[in-house]
Amino acid sequence: MDIKKIPGGPNFDMAARFREIYGGEKPEAFFAPGRVNLIGEHTDHEGGHVFPCAIAFGIWALAAVRPGKTLRLCSLNFEEKGVVEAPLHALEHDPARGWANYPLGVIRVLEDHGHALPAGLDLLFWGNLPEGAGLSSSAAIEVLTARIANDLFGLGRDGVKLAVLSQEAENKFIGVQCGIMDQFAVSMGKKDHAILLDCAKLEYRYAPLALGDCKLVITNSNVPHSLASSEYNLRRQQCEAALADIRRLRPGIKNLCELSREDFDAVKDAIKTPEALRRARHAITEDARALRAVAALEGGDLATFGELMKGSHLSLRDDYQVTVPELDALAELAWGQPGVVGSRMTGGGFGGCTVSIVKEAAVEDFIREVGEGYTKRTGRTASFYVTETSDGAGRV
Ligand code: GLA
Repeated sequence: MDIKKIPGGPNFDMAARFREIYGGEKPEAFFAPGRVNLIGEHTDHEGGHVFPCAIAFGIWALAAVRPGKTLRLCSLNFEEKGVVEAPLHALEHDPARGWANYPLGVIRVLEDHGHALPAGLDLLFWGNLPEGAGLSSSAAIEVLTARIANDLFGLGRDGVKLAVLSQEAENKFIGVQCGIMDQFAVSMGKKDHAILLDCAKLEYRYAPLALGDCKLVITNSNVPHSLASSEYNLRRQQCEAALADIRRLRPGIKNLCELSREDFDAVKDAIKTPEALRRARHAITEDARALRAVAALEGGDLATFGELMKGSHLSLRDDYQVTVPELDALAELAWGQPGVVGSRMTGGGFGGCTVSIVKEAAVEDFIREVGEGYTKRTGRTASFYVTETSDGAGRV
């Protein structure tokens, strides 16, 4: 079993690697965290509430301005791909560039918004976020790039705007119709806090993550999830279909999450397909769960928070249908463990991770029992990360 405690960053001389690869310039260092969402899943794209926190796993970058109109990018996680060179202007998505499309998409969106970079950049990335685990490695590299360009070229954009621009890169350049949660959490995270974000208004506040004698444990199913190839975009279309049907009765509504549960019950018969009905029901019940959960946490009622996490998982399994048997196995095993306050799948689904709140004294047993049970049930090996929270993207 693979147990990783939060490491404090690159345990090698990244600056030496930068010099080796690019020569010359003295680079500046930046970090962007990953994120874990505690509750409020698949509500961001429906104008609902989410409650994520930034985690101490993430991506580091060394960056230096270079003369001319070329970007050079290299990731030490994909070293075999070498240095990617790209022109500064009129960038287009190019599958041959692989991972580099994420940062390049951000440069393109900045240009589209009137921030054409006046010079090139040399960028070296290294991260310890497990890739494809649903902990927002793509949002991390997007926001990191936006933050680097903003700070090195004095673009004067705040963290919220950088998140919005990074989301636009994911939507338009990468082609995943994600909501704002990931980029927002990565950009605006605050250590020891989670963010309650109203995704319709982009209004937010921080709630202290007062877990008392509990720890946040992320369990990776090691079933790689891929948002682009998963059914993420299809789920969004089904929600849109539900909204279009409801609008025939309520022409004024903009987002599904504007409806209370009672409003929804009054109009739900207008929804034409059973899939769309389930997707909409998830968004609406999940939004209510998120708000109740935050109130419970702030009232010191962790037990209710945990119950709501379970409700969230069940709704994602039965109504939104984005869990897979491996995620269900992890959640069910966790619910049966002593010392577990709550557990649920987190992120987009179709693989990736669960998040659990576990009494510190029970963490070791949790890892052993859930790990063994998971292997017995699925033949796979889970990874466990006892996580700390982190501040959002910035210079280090
Ligand atoms: C992915 C997306 C987010 C959000 C979650 C589900 O992480 O990028 O915008 O929709 O799935 O809550």
